[in-house]
Amino acid sequence: MGAIFLQVLVFASALVGLANGALEFESVQLKDNEVAGFPGGAFPKGKPKPSTARCKAFPGSDDWPSISEWRRLNASLDGALLNQDAPAVACYPGPSYDASKCSFLVNNASSTHYYIDDPISVLTTWPQGNTCLPAINPAGNCTRGGYPSYIVNATTVKHIQLAINFARNNNVRLVIKNTGHDFGGRSLGAGSLSIWTHNLDAFEYLPSFALGSYSGPAAHFGAGLEQWELFNQMILNNITIVGSGFKAIGANGGWFASGGHGSLASLYGLAADQALEIHVITADGRHLIANELQNSDLFYALRGGGGSTYGVVTSVIVKVYPPITMMETSIYIACNPPPDTTARARWAPITPATNYVNNTERFWEAMNIYFRFKKTIVDTHNVDWDYIYPLGPDSFSFRTRISFPALTVSQAADLLAPLYHQFSAAGFDFKPTNLTELSSTRLPYSGTSLTAPPGPAVGTANTRYRSRLYPRSNWENSTIFNSTISAIRYAVQTGGYIFHGLSYGPTLQVAGYPGNTSAVNPAWRNAVMHGALMTVQPTNLTPRQARDEQTTMAIYTERIRAVTPGAGSYMNEGDPGEKDWQGSFYGRDGTYERLLKVKKDRDPWGLFWARTTVGSEKWEVESLDGGDLYPWSQNGRLCKTEKEGKGKGKGKKR
Ligand SMILES: Cc1cc2nc3c(=O)[nH]c(=O)nc-3n(C[C@H](O)[C@H](O)[C@H](O)COP(=O)(O)OP(=O)(O)OC[C@H]3O[C@@H](n4cnc5c(N)ncnc54)[C@H](O)[C@@H]3O)c2cc1C
Ligand SMILES: *[C@@H]1O[C@H](CO)[C@@H](O)[C@H](O)[C@H]1NC(C)=O
Ligand SMILES: *[C@@H]1O[C@H](CO)[C@@H](O)[C@H](O)[C@H]1NC(C)=O
Ligand SMILES: *[C@@H]1O[C@H](CO)[C@@H](O)[C@H](O)[C@H]1NC(C)=O
Ligand SMILES: *[C@@H]1O[C@H](CO)[C@@H](O)[C@H](O)[C@H]1NC(C)=O
Ligand SMILES: *[C@@H]1O[C@H](CO)[C@@H](O)[C@H](O)[C@H]1NC(C)=O
Ligand SMILES: *[C@@H]1O[C@H](CO)[C@@H](O)[C@H](O)[C@H]1NC(C)=O
Ligand SMILES: *[C@@H]1O[C@H](CO)[C@@H](O)[C@H](O)[C@H]1NC(C)=O
Ligand SMILES: *[C@@H]1O[C@H](CO)[C@@H](O)[C@H](O)[C@H]1NC(C)=O
Ligand SMILES: *[C@@H]1O[C@H](CO)[C@@H](O)[C@H](O)[C@H]1NC(C)=O
Ligand SMILES: *[C@@H]1O[C@H](CO)[C@@H](O)[C@H](O)[C@H]1NC(C)=O
Repeated sequence: MGAIFLQVLVFASALVGLANGALEFESVQLKDNEVAGFPGGAFPKGKPKPSTARCKAFPGSDDWPSISEWRRLNASLDGALLNQDAPAVACYPGPSYDASKCSFLVNNASSTHYYIDDPISVLTTWPQGNTCLPAINPAGNCTRGGYPSYIVNATTVKHIQLAINFARNNNVRLVIKNTGHDFGGRSLGAGSLSIWTHNLDAFEYLPSFALGSYSGPAAHFGAGLEQWELFNQMILNNITIVGSGFKAIGANGGWFASGGHGSLASLYGLAADQALEIHVITADGRHLIANELQNSDLFYALRGGGGSTYGVVTSVIVKVYPPITMMETSIYIACNPPPDTTARARWAPITPATNYVNNTERFWEAMNIYFRFKKTIVDTHNVDWDYIYPLGPDSFSFRTRISFPALTVSQAADLLAPLYHQFSAAGFDFKPTNLTELSSTRLPYSGTSLTAPPGPAVGTANTRYRSRLYPRSNWENSTIFNSTISAIRYAVQTGGYIFHGLSYGPTLQVAGYPGNTSAVNPAWRNAVMHGALMTVQPTNLTPRQARDEQTTMAIYTERIRAVTPGAGSYMNEGDPGEKDWQGSFYGRDGTYERLLKVKKDRDPWGLFWARTTVGSEKWEVESLDGGDLYPWSQNGRLCKTEKEGKGKGKGKKR
């Protein structure tokens, strides 16, 4: 009854265009009197008093909360505190050994939604330390490594408020995990309390909504909703919402917080450009509403200024568009492909539609023509998604998928004609592939069936990215353009790296109101391509080997930086070790400084921390045994840098 009544209320407020409606889970909030006898969970009083300890508390340190304090927290949370082991403990000798679970983890988990539904797992494993990987008869023991010590399975705002207050009051490291997709280890940390937002998946369609200068349809949904769930809501409500290119990513978590690209980026902008209002819990434990009219500093920062920095987002109200059709086409080009399709070639399969260019120079000429066409793709509000894959000496394969949202078959074919004309003028006999209309589902996403399945196959991996937002100016001078292709060629052909290119044009005009006043990295606004060098690392590299690999990769990334001076980089698919990350990930035009001010104002305690987030320079992860730490690993204790911590009392080292 209560729930129905509340829904009617929300619907009614939407009809009359009132802002500030809350989702049901947001109405359960922590009251001062509930923590009157529990100082560990209380809201701060008076002037903020950041801890003076050099390090965050750590299991075994003098300031680590006692078992009874953790029990007290769990009681306040109505039992939502978890501390389970890593799933793969089932593979190791000991009381948790479970042969059939281990077999599932090794053979089957990656083809299910298992890791996304697990409270502690993350998909990129190196930041955890690879201390408990699933294997049949693994060597060594399973240890907790970079996984959090405790997890709050948040289903209400109150749960998150308690977690924030407890971590702040007890100098405990706090992390936030949604789906665990982050490539840089930003959703975990050793000795931390983790807020797991996965179950905040409410959704409301607001057919008529008005706020500031916006008036039109909107949707309000929780921070745990995944992209596939959002697709189902689009089908149900016959609407379009800007979404990600991958179905298990969180629709309002780290993807949204750092920009968030997808098939509609050149038509409607990035994810962060869609937000009209954001509900967030800040470091003081208070649940706030941020929009153009109130808490506008947060509204600015939360739209593109990064996750895990200013607060825990609980829900977002975004713009809604009418249902649209989408055309897609793929082009495959191979150069001397090996006879057998190796496992690595799965990225760029040889298909009946593959065009062969069995000559290295000619292959790169074809790449030159295709990459030149990217400017046309984004200028006509379309996107592409491609890979150049090195398969051996003088052996490459290329695949691209071009998506044409809101165009008819003939409009899309007309746009493609000049590309094929340029190919044939250069002597390439490429067969155009058919345009496929995705209108049967009316979804801006390829391969989605009428009801999106409950999550795609997601496994863990050790992919490392180096991103560059290639500016428009690289397309405006053919000498510079050719140097750009040469730099990419050098990385693929000589370096052996995979090149992943995504053509997106989320210009300020496309972003429109209020996206054009967000903290999205300005480098996105004049980019034609987000291009990344990718490598899949083995899980057994030593810290030294990992650093050597970074040094080697730098030879190739420097060549790319040289042809894109001053360009930016997309943090979500970037390198946690990115040089000058403040400028590259956030902007060199004062954006970083503006965000840093919001961070200092809103989180004077330094509660939210993840590597390369705004203000994160003051802290670093220290090795637990004094040994060599794997670069940017989260398997260690979080401490102030020597410079910061000087004279402030040493944290107890373990
Ligand atoms: C297979 C795969 C495909 C991808 N495809 C795309 C793509 O198409 N487009 C694209 O732009 N990116 C893509 N990415 C990158 C993606 O944007 C990032 O991995 C992103 O961090 C995922 O956000 P998440 O919330 O799902 O993951 P998480 O790892 O859970 O969180 C990422 C970061 O956000 C923080 N965070 C999460 N929830 C909140 C919250 N409620 N409040 C505050 N902070 C929060 C976390 O603390 C962490 O710092 C892809 C990644 C993978 C692994
Ligand atoms: C928290 O309480 C619940 C319910 O009593 C219990 O199941 C759970 O194990 C507790 N969590 C921890 C970390 O002890
Ligand atoms: C799990 O993986 C094994 C080994 O690949 C396979 O034989 C089995 O069919 C899979 N089981 C399920 C339920 O998919
Ligand atoms: C694993 O743990 C056991 C029991 O604590 C210990 O005897 C053994 O030495 C450990 N093995 C390794 C490789 O650390
Ligand atoms: C998290 O909480 C939800 C709601 O109470 C519950 O359904 C789910 O099983 C919990 N998850 C875990 C891993 O405990
Ligand atoms: C979906 O919306 C479109 C445009 O808003 C409309 O033309 C169409 O009839 C709707 N379809 C359904 C099934 O309601
Ligand atoms: C190129 O090589 C592939 C595989 O070796 C072969 O199938 C194809 O016919 C060759 N094409 C041309 C144009 O030489
Ligand atoms: C491409 O389209 C043509 C014309 O509609 C059709 O005859 C042909 O079978 C299609 N080819 C493929 C590979 O789908
Ligand atoms: C193109 O760039 C090159 C190299 O920077 C420069 O020498 C040349 O003058 C530029 N051409 C034009 C037309 O601007
Ligand atoms: C750039 O490269 C293309 C393809 O290799 C070539 O045709 C063109 O002449 C080059 N342009 C310049 C200015 O070097
Ligand atoms: C943002 O876009 C709106 C609507 O197009 C426009 O009125 C406003 O001037 C733009 N603001 C900025 C800063 O570009």
